[in-house]
Amino acid sequence: MTTEKPFSQACENNKGPILAVLREHLTKPARLLEVGSGTGQHATWLAQHLPHVQWQPSDVLDNLAGIQLWLNDTPCSNILKPIELDVRHSWPQGPYDALFTANSLHIMSQHSAALCIARGASALSSEGLFMIYGPFNYQGRFTSDSNAQFQQWLQARNPESGIRDAEWVTDTMAQHGLTPVQDHEMPANNRLLVFQRSPAR
Ligand SMILES: C[S@@+](CC[C@H](N)C(=O)[O-])C[C@H]1O[C@@H](n2cnc3c(N)ncnc32)[C@H](O)[C@@H]1O
Repeated sequence: MTTEKPFSQACENNKGPILAVLREHLTKPARLLEVGSGTGQHATWLAQHLPHVQWQPSDVLDNLAGIQLWLNDTPCSNILKPIELDVRHSWPQGPYDALFTANSLHIMSQHSAALCIARGASALSSEGLFMIYGPFNYQGRFTSDSNAQFQQWLQARNPESGIRDAEWVTDTMAQHGLTPVQDHEMPANNRLLVFQRSPAR
């Protein structure tokens, strides 16, 4: 079976702004798990620009071959082979100092998004960071007309998909011991939400 190298124009557009935010928060050597790496473009490019971060890409099985094609073309000593991770099933034990996921919580069901937060929190080290990029609603409202249209498109494709409320994410994080650090405004009506696990008592 041959796999064509996947490509996302959105990743090319948002990788620079995402890197700028990750650089602010990832100031020390860290083990990072990326959930839902998709094409692998973020993993390869961000890891190259964050050499002190050991980057572990992951995704559902079908996407691993495509991610590996990006890794083959971008040899980089701080990026590991992609691993299979469906947030509903078993997770690597970690501990990871950081978790990063982009554009995934609105694709998976809200139940899966809650599992992603719960199990991700368990895989984090004390004071570990959980960073989530994508569109979010505030007080139940879309932040733009384009996000409202995006929601219609998402739900026509899969009624369980949908833009999540930032308040719901914050409450779910709190249930698992994570507190908000910063909510970054990003281009194209996206956000990058950063949470931190409380130090072990
Ligand atoms: C829109 S893509 C985003 C990919 C990439 N992070 C990006 O920003 O381009 C959504 C990603 O979420 C992943 N995903 C969806 N459901 C998932 C699940 N249950 N467990 C893990 N990943 C999942 C998909 O496989 C896909 O890679």
